[in-house]
Amino acid sequence: MRHFLTLRDLSPTELRALVARACELKKDRLNPKTRDLLRSRCMVMIFEKSSTRTRVSFEVACAQFGGTSIFLSPGDSQMSRGESVSDTARILSSMADLIVMRTGPHDRVMTMAKHSTIPVINALSDTFHPCQLLADLQTFHEYRGEMQGARVAFLGDGSSNVCHSWINAAAMMQFQLNIGAPAAYHPDAQVLSNAGSQCRITDSPAEAIEHADLVVTDTWTGMGQEEEKAKRVRDLSPFQVNHNTMALASPSALFMHCLPAYRGQEVTADVIDGPQSVVWDEAENRLHAQKALIELLM
Ligand code: CP
Ligand code: NVA
Repeated sequence: MRHFLTLRDLSPTELRALVARACELKKDRLNPKTRDLLRSRCMVMIFEKSSTRTRVSFEVACAQFGGTSIFLSPGDSQMSRGESVSDTARILSSMADLIVMRTGPHDRVMTMAKHSTIPVINALSDTFHPCQLLADLQTFHEYRGEMQGARVAFLGDGSSNVCHSWINAAAMMQFQLNIGAPAAYHPDAQVLSNAGSQCRITDSPAEAIEHADLVVTDTWTGMGQEEEKAKRVRDLSPFQVNHNTMALASPSALFMHCLPAYRGQEVTADVIDGPQSVVWDEAENRLHAQKALIELLM
């Protein structure tokens, strides 16, 4: 029995195989070989934060595998009234087959996994967003093939859950990740220590993006950071992905964003809606990549 709390819960070989499998599943969504994978099984989704893509992609994945899903929003479960994560894990384990959890502090999803006897998937915590990276790696693979040796630039909040998962991916897939972020928005030192020489940080957006094969950003104001919005916009403005910054990347560079996007802040409309952007494939691939993940864990 395995959990998926960060990308590092897979081996690099498993991660590569998962991306390949996601591409296969994409070709044939209702393949008879997989449509009963979750038959008579139930996936419980505990979401303590908002979601469009993650919720819908997991529910559709479960439906395409013949299973049932139960969605508990923040007010729905007794956790909102103080029932412990550990008690909840025991209860869900005794009835359901898979837990998908979106929460704030990463400790909460770790506690869920510790006390669960069924697989737990991290559908985003404050520290990591590993499911997003499965789709991002699949999307790069579809457009450009092998990631090893590629140059990826992440601009903006280097301490975001998405950037932290990119750091894990860089170490596992052996690509160069250059993070352009102001000093106060550098990644967590512990997370960074896993990536070794695959990851560099600079406070110069131009230096980070130079010759990049892929440019990535994320919202400047993540869920739970709304009160800091004005300060974040001020601090992160020099790291906006726009026409001028994209001109410093490789001419064939792709642009990715996990979405939701805020046009005019972290990215301009001409970039996200332009020819280098692959954000719609990236979003769709959440479905296929998570199907491959469910298959692996179940
Ligand atoms: N990218 C992502 O996780 O989107 P949602 O918040 O809509 O699930
Ligand atoms: N970093 C963003 C990702 C949203 C999918 C957040 O945590 O809100």
